[in-house]
Amino acid sequence: MTNRDLAVIVVAAGRGERLKSDKPKAFVEINGRTILAHSLLPIAELENLKQLVIAAPESQVAEAIEIANQYFDDATQVTVVVGGETRQQSISNALAQVDAEIVLVHDAARAFATAELFKSVCDKVKASSQAVIPAIQIADTVKRVSDDVVLETVDRSSLRSAQTPQGFVTSDLKRAYAEATNDFTDDAALFQSLGKKVLFVPGEANAAKITTPDDLNVVLTRFNGPGRTGIGTDVHRFSSNANKKLYLGTIEWPGVPGLDGHSDGDAVSHAIVDALLSAAGLGDIGSNFGVDRPEFAGANGSVFLAETVKLLADAGYAVVNVSVQLIGNRPKVSTKRKEAEVALSAIVGAPVTLGATTTDGLGFLGNNEGVAAVASALIISAKDRLNA
Ligand code: CTP
Ligand code: MG
Repeated sequence: MTNRDLAVIVVAAGRGERLKSDKPKAFVEINGRTILAHSLLPIAELENLKQLVIAAPESQVAEAIEIANQYFDDATQVTVVVGGETRQQSISNALAQVDAEIVLVHDAARAFATAELFKSVCDKVKASSQAVIPAIQIADTVKRVSDDVVLETVDRSSLRSAQTPQGFVTSDLKRAYAEATNDFTDDAALFQSLGKKVLFVPGEANAAKITTPDDLNVVLTRFNGPGRTGIGTDVHRFSSNANKKLYLGTIEWPGVPGLDGHSDGDAVSHAIVDALLSAAGLGDIGSNFGVDRPEFAGANGSVFLAETVKLLADAGYAVVNVSVQLIGNRPKVSTKRKEAEVALSAIVGAPVTLGATTTDGLGFLGNNEGVAAVASALIISAKDRLNA
């Protein structure tokens, strides 16, 4: 039988002002699970867990209880307390409930710290009877500044960023809280202000705090992968009408015959439209802009592209990038590649790159009957970009 000697305090009572969401931060969902729920998952793996105390905003106490009950059985005593004005006050409220021998204090906002990190902090507290925090090396060069002046480069070799969970012998932390007169941003600072010793273990990138919309986007991208891809192809025959102009990628290519089609035959733009629509699961060019839509007769590719980007936006998608390749002998793409890429990127609102190849003289493309284009597109859910 494991000796249940551990209490974990999860502070989730902040407002999350910097995240700018409509709910307190710990109650914002990431892939169908609140940040609080994510933060509880590794804690539920701790075999020696006796108590879990969550500090929540008053408005969210019932929700916090409901979330915790999904992950903990009767073997763990779960309590939710109302948080205070500051993080320290929230912890103080929670600490009053703790009677286990060792206590780990953890930010719900560090939702992806692993169970290994909790265990490593807890083990070192037990082995040393000292306070222990996770701390991580600083990758950037660090400067000391004043106003807009850089004063000096600070030697970062002896600097670390502090994370949570931070572990203490409960009686020591209670005493430190009782004696503390200032407000501190972490428990190790409060503890050390009273002249007490704090040790550290290596922290982990996973334990980074979700503070800003950018932080949330990084996590969401990790969860959702890079997005959804789509593919599109189109083929058009060169026109026998010598006066017809050639349009590909929405721009004119002088000196090469135009292409036949219900529209202007812009195979490049049409392949991109199909790639975008397929990525979003919105059908294809025929089902959206069929020959029964007279307003698209003879239309430039830009009309289809702009309408497609709007359809995607309405469905909640943003374009990440598009790659399109023209297959055929003419026109020579290199002459106007940049111009086409700039025009297409402006309409799509994301980078569009254009390549070209021939078929070594084979088939209808090799004998100059027409051109083909193949496009692939990458899109992501626009709601996954809080600031998009
Ligand atoms: N926290 C708390 N009680 C407070 C303030 C913060 O329990 N009065 C908790 C937060 O919920 C969070 C952790 O302390 O899990 C770290 O704080 P921070 O990242 O600053 O979160 P918020 O205070 O919610 O965010 P902001 O400062 O942007 O409002
Ligand atoms: Mg805060």
